[in-house]
Parts: sequence; structure tokens; C-alpha cells
Amino acid sequence: MPGISEKPLAFDPKNALSEAVGRHGLSGAEAKAMEKRIEKEHAALIAERKAGKFGFANAVHDGAAEEASVRAAEDIAKEFSDLVVLGIGGSALGARALLSALAPAAGKGAKSGRKLRIHIVDNVDPDYVSETFGSLDLRNTAFNVVTKSGSTPETMAQFLIACGMIKKAAPGKLAGRIFVTTDPEKGDLRAISKKEGFRTLPVPPDVGGRYSLFTAVGLLPAAAAGIDVHALMGGAREFDRDWIELKPLENPAYSFAASCHAMHSLRSKPVVVLFSYSQKLYDLADWFRQLWAESLGKRIALDGSEVFAGSTPIRALGTTDQHSQIQLYAEGPNDKFIVFLRVGSPGADVQIPKLYPEMKSLSYLGGHNISELFEAEFIGTEVALREAQRPTARLTLARVDERCAGYAFQMLMASTVFAGRLYNVNPFDQPGVERGKVVAAALLGKEGLEKVRKEIEAVR
Ligand code: PA5
Repeated sequence: MPGISEKPLAFDPKNALSEAVGRHGLSGAEAKAMEKRIEKEHAALIAERKAGKFGFANAVHDGAAEEASVRAAEDIAKEFSDLVVLGIGGSALGARALLSALAPAAGKGAKSGRKLRIHIVDNVDPDYVSETFGSLDLRNTAFNVVTKSGSTPETMAQFLIACGMIKKAAPGKLAGRIFVTTDPEKGDLRAISKKEGFRTLPVPPDVGGRYSLFTAVGLLPAAAAGIDVHALMGGAREFDRDWIELKPLENPAYSFAASCHAMHSLRSKPVVVLFSYSQKLYDLADWFRQLWAESLGKRIALDGSEVFAGSTPIRALGTTDQHSQIQLYAEGPNDKFIVFLRVGSPGADVQIPKLYPEMKSLSYLGGHNISELFEAEFIGTEVALREAQRPTARLTLARVDERCAGYAFQMLMASTVFAGRLYNVNPFDQPGVERGKVVAAALLGKEGLEKVRKEIEAVR
């Protein structure tokens, strides 16, 4: 067992300094200026945190929500073999990231001792929807409909399809099969739930979609997958405590965001690559992609000026992308800040057998563990990028377990809020996604949008 004194997470930006990568790295004076900015913003941020202004921070102390998710998951696992999570964006990506990182090989307590299969359906591509829904045994399937607004068209359309199918396959059993995660008061799904008697779990009104994985949005699917939700929330709370107690310059949330921002604003690197050297954390990088992009990509700054802010987050996977992306990263435009997402101690290992000793291309591999190959490949990539003057950093989880993952997710949310201050934008809204939604609804004939529909059809 790791000692509790071991830090769950560390950020090391030394390969983003000019000593490592020349003029593409930050100078000592710039690093000092960055530290001053961290100290200044920390005071303001922490005052807001303590005043309870950040819903995602308040959420990790909501023991009742944690318990309700665990209980709902236990009840689902007793009765069903499959759980289908219907949601999109912040209502799906966090749950998927948690499951990829932490779900044990066999879920707990599922019907007849089998693993509870969890399907996260976050698209309305017709092929995908018809294949996924078509493969379900509806008598043994529960649905968790996750939508904070209770009106997102993709999720609501899937909900309607699910209702239609259950009504046919298991007449009279709708209420017992649908579990709803939505706003506690508002939204059409809340009203339908009351009418139909669906079991519901709340998304606190002050927690936005992409910040909601530590509410029932992420916790119910996580608990259903057999993840230790209490340990996970313990890790998230540990970060929340550190946020208040650590010296600002020791807080990885600040150094991570400040490095990304400095690389963008001072070294023309508008792309942040979260390069996961962990298969299990690859979906965390996908979750982060949404969090960073939707929170910081803004046309209007807090002072009302037009800024077109934000850096573009992309994800990559080691070692897989060493055979795909690295050529571009090493020799293409030097416009990226590459953050390696790493794991200090892997959970398992495999020895490579010593076979074919006469073949030079294989004989050096035999006898090593696969972890040694993985580490050597990582070091090789890091060194090659440094030699090519490409700035990189390391974000290292001590291990992939509930505590470290809880800490990492919560740290990245705080980091994004801090980045919002650096870019001077509101990290909690998303005005740029509205127009597309209105046009889509108008095209499908939503009442009140007749004028929009006419305008669009005139130019199509
Ligand atoms: O971060 C966000 O606010 C969005 O990505 C939402 O999560 C997404 O649009 C889904 O919204 P809802 O949960 O209301 O269906």
C-alpha cells in the first residue's frame, strides 16, 4: 500500500524551461513572473473557494449524493445485467474516464454474479444508436438518463427510444428500469420523472456539466462499475484540502495551468497535447479535452473585449502515437506544449520471454519486463523532443487508483478555473454552443423557432 504521505500527483515542467529547449522554453525571469502571478491569483481564487462559489468544489463534500449513487448502483446491479448510460458532453465524458481508469475487471453484485456491463451512449449517429440499442436484452437492462438541463435533444431522443423499447419488451416496467440524473427542480425530464415515478438523483444547480463528474453524473456509473466511490471522493477531497492548505507554488493545479498559458502567450504554442503514457488514463485526456476547450475557448473576455481566447487541447497515447503523431510533434510546427500524463507505479507487469537469442533485433528484449520497455520508450520520446527543442512537462499520478484519480480530476478542474483567470474569461459558460443547437431544433420543427427555420432554409 502506498504511504498516505506519498503525494497523489506531481507536475514537473523542467523540460519547458530555456535550459532544456532553448528559445522555445521559458526564461528564469519569465518563470519568476509566472510565480508572482500564481501567488496573486491564488489569494482571490481561494477567497471565492472558501465562500462556496465553486460548485464543483462544494460537490466533493456532499456525502449524501455519494451514498445515493452507491445505493442506486447496488439496486441496479441486483436486478440487471446491463446499464446503459444516456448522456453527452459533460454528462458522459467524466463517467467514461472514470470507468476506463478504475473499473475492476469484474463488477460487484451484478445479477447472477456476472459483471454488470455498462454502455455509455453519447452520440446519435444512427448506425451507432441502432447497433447499440439493437444488441440489448431489454428485460435485463436498466437506463441511467443523465442530463442536467433535462432537454438536450440527443439525450432526450435516446430516452424516448429507450422508453418505446421498454414499453414493448417489458410492458408496465418502465419506472423500475429508468434512473434519471438531472436538475433537482428544473427541466422537462424532472417533470416526466415525477409523472412516471422514475428514481432520480440530483445534479446540483451550481455544478456545470463538464465539472459534474463528482456528482451522481459520474458517481452512479462509477459505483455500478464496482469502483470504490468513497476512496475516489476521498482523493477529490484531498485535492480540495490541498487547494486551501498547500503553498500556491506547490500546487500542481497552478503550475500546470500557468505553464500552458505561458507557453501559449509567450512562446506561441496554442496547442496543449495531453500525451497519456497510460492506456487507462487515455479517456481522462479526452475528458480534459472538453473541460479545457469548452471552458477557455471564448470570444469575449470578462471585461467585454473581443479576445478569441483559449488553447487547443488534444490527446495522444504512448507508446501507440509514437508511431503516428511523433513525427509531427518533433519536426512539424513548433506550436505545441506537450504534457506527458504518467503513472509512477504501474499496477501490473509482464516479463518478456528470452526466445530467439541469436536474433539481434529480439535478443535485447528478452528478460526485461514490459514496464521497462514502456519506460524506455517514454524516455526516448521525451529526450527526442527535448533535443528537437520541443517544450514538454510531466504530470505524474503516483498510481492509477481511486485516491490518485480523484485527486487528479479535481486538480484539473481547479486548474481550468485558474486558467480562466489567466485568460480573463468565464470558465463556466459556453455561449458558442447555443446557435448550433437552436438551428438543429428549428430544422426539426420546434415550436417558436419557425423564423430561424425560414432563415436557414433560405440559405441552404
Ligand atoms: O459542460 C457542459 O455544460 C456541456 O458539455 C453539457 O454537459 C452537455 O451539453 C450536456 O448537457 P446536459 O447535461 O444538460 O444534457
